[in-house]
Amino acid sequence: MRTTEFAKLNILMMACLISINLLAQSDSKYLNLMPVPEKMNVTAGKFLLNESFTISINNDDKRLFKAAQRTLKILSERTGLFFKDQFPVISISSKTNALSINISKVGEVKLGVDESYNLIVNEKSVKIDAATNIGAIHGLATLVQLLNSDKSGYYLQGVEIKDKPRFPWRGLLIDVSRHFMPIEVIKRNLDAMGAVKMNVLHWHLTDDHGFRIESKSLPKLHELGSDGLYYTHEQIIDIVDYAADRGIRVVPEFDLPGHATSWLVGYPEFASAPGPYSIERNWGIFNPTFDPTNDETYNFLTVFFKEMSALFPDEYWHIGGDENNGKQWDANKKIQEFKVQNKLKNNHDLQNYFNKRVEKILTPLNKTMVGWYTDEMPDLSKDYIVQAWKGRASLYQTSRNGYRSLLSHGFYIDLVQPTDYHYLNDPIPPDSILENTVKEKILGGEATMWAEFVDPETIDSRIWPRTAAIAERLWSPGYVNDVQDMYRRLSIVNLHLEELGLTHVKNYEMMLRRLTNNYNVEVLKNFVDVIQPLYTYSRDHPHVFKSYYPLTRVVDVSAPDPEVAREFNQLVDSFIKDVKKDESKTIAITKWLNLWKNNHSKLVDIINALPVLKEIETLSEDLSKCAAIGLEALEKIKNNSKPNELWISTRLSTLKLAGVPKGETELAIVKSIEKLLGEALK
Ligand code: ACM
Repeated sequence: MRTTEFAKLNILMMACLISINLLAQSDSKYLNLMPVPEKMNVTAGKFLLNESFTISINNDDKRLFKAAQRTLKILSERTGLFFKDQFPVISISSKTNALSINISKVGEVKLGVDESYNLIVNEKSVKIDAATNIGAIHGLATLVQLLNSDKSGYYLQGVEIKDKPRFPWRGLLIDVSRHFMPIEVIKRNLDAMGAVKMNVLHWHLTDDHGFRIESKSLPKLHELGSDGLYYTHEQIIDIVDYAADRGIRVVPEFDLPGHATSWLVGYPEFASAPGPYSIERNWGIFNPTFDPTNDETYNFLTVFFKEMSALFPDEYWHIGGDENNGKQWDANKKIQEFKVQNKLKNNHDLQNYFNKRVEKILTPLNKTMVGWYTDEMPDLSKDYIVQAWKGRASLYQTSRNGYRSLLSHGFYIDLVQPTDYHYLNDPIPPDSILENTVKEKILGGEATMWAEFVDPETIDSRIWPRTAAIAERLWSPGYVNDVQDMYRRLSIVNLHLEELGLTHVKNYEMMLRRLTNNYNVEVLKNFVDVIQPLYTYSRDHPHVFKSYYPLTRVVDVSAPDPEVAREFNQLVDSFIKDVKKDESKTIAITKWLNLWKNNHSKLVDIINALPVLKEIETLSEDLSKCAAIGLEALEKIKNNSKPNELWISTRLSTLKLAGVPKGETELAIVKSIEKLLGEALK
């Protein structure tokens, strides 16, 4: 078969899987909603959309108006309907053939604002009632997920929804220091966050690799610490407003006293060891640390924090506090003497001393501190919020000690782990025996997009769609944890994110085209569809990365938790469970295996012309071998012919070798082939 035919077959097979999903939609009690609402009833009626559809709002709040207008635009663009009214109207009348939004008041975008809403859809009308505009904005996000179609037209499924979040803090950290992310990257990710009701952008603005915000009072910070890649004040104000329009708070992080190289390039006098310093280009944990014993350090931070506090209206302020290796402190005689004089037993005590002085600066600025969990908890005011990243136990320990806490352990999306792992990472699992007083301290969690291995081209693919599942974990009731249904809804949400400008789907194809110089892309795609990037902490081999190295290789294109591989793996699981071995499943598995078995010989031609692909040659051959083994196993299962020992052992050793990562990637279907072998043995 020619490659294009293969590609067509591939698309057809995906379409088959997707259409199964589409059919399943109408049966699902959760429709296509993500996150699943707290309470919902699917009702019989459907609200048909036509060109006279209008939106009326009982309040002239600008944020809600803009959200309603964005909703009209999405409904119009998805349906091709030419709505007569381009704008929502401010009116208290509730008409038929309309969405009427009623709010009680305009809420402040702050922690604890009432985010609840009720949404009722029936044949005649659609209603959103909410205590605040923020709740209504969430209601609109639900409404666009209800849009569906059939022969009779586009419609919103009849529902009665009463919804509110389980946790008040549902965040996404974006690290813009390791790789700078231009404003449009932040905006499109805020759009996506809004679509799945996340409400905190934790903006990691400074680290060893770059100081990413303009300082008018201390200009050497951004001038010398950023390679010219930083946000101006105007851009920060714009982003904070853009986020607030979506009910999203912006919490800046200025990571101190470690992770501080970029600060010290311009101001080495505040470091714990003499300079000069230069922007860090390697990945890791580094020595440059502020001198906590120097009063001038605090004067410097006071000037800087004052300036920054005017840009970030949120009450919460992240001070970092992680991974101070203490090496500069240990090597500095003056600092050691200071510890003795002040009865500070160790570097933890010294960091607590530093944090307390930082707290004294921030409190008059009406800022409450958030910090990464450190092994010994600081003796700070109980307002302090602790972000647990090293383990789940620290979440409970700090909560038990009276601090409010956030879970990030298990939400490290930079590590490219499977979606279901994150999805089931519940801050308070359903079977939890935690005391209520401890549970009450847990505010929610944050996905963390550390940016060592992402740039503006790939970041969306590491955040989405997996973060939508985390958004659901933090919004929906804990008993909503059916992994299969999550994946079904996720694949639908995934494409809806694209209409908001997210690039995770389209850049996949674009990056593949670049790798093959636009030659026979489908053949490379067949392979990349079933591999996954290696767990990030294992990637520094054989390459030792620097911050300016390219992120355009196959590993960077490959998707975490790849959908084709996952669907195939599900197919194999259902085949194995099926005692009757339904013929259609055998056919579907055989089609995939044939595609992969024959793919390598074609890919080799491309690899020979494009040296950048050389690193995946062996893995591509492995895929072909795995597929051949899978086909043999299927044949044996079909004929009920038991394989002998030698047959099994040679194949198992081939599969073992195929399971070894290459080019910082690994095959995502090897286990399924092993399962087919196991089935042949039965
Ligand atoms: C961290 O991941 N160093 C907070």
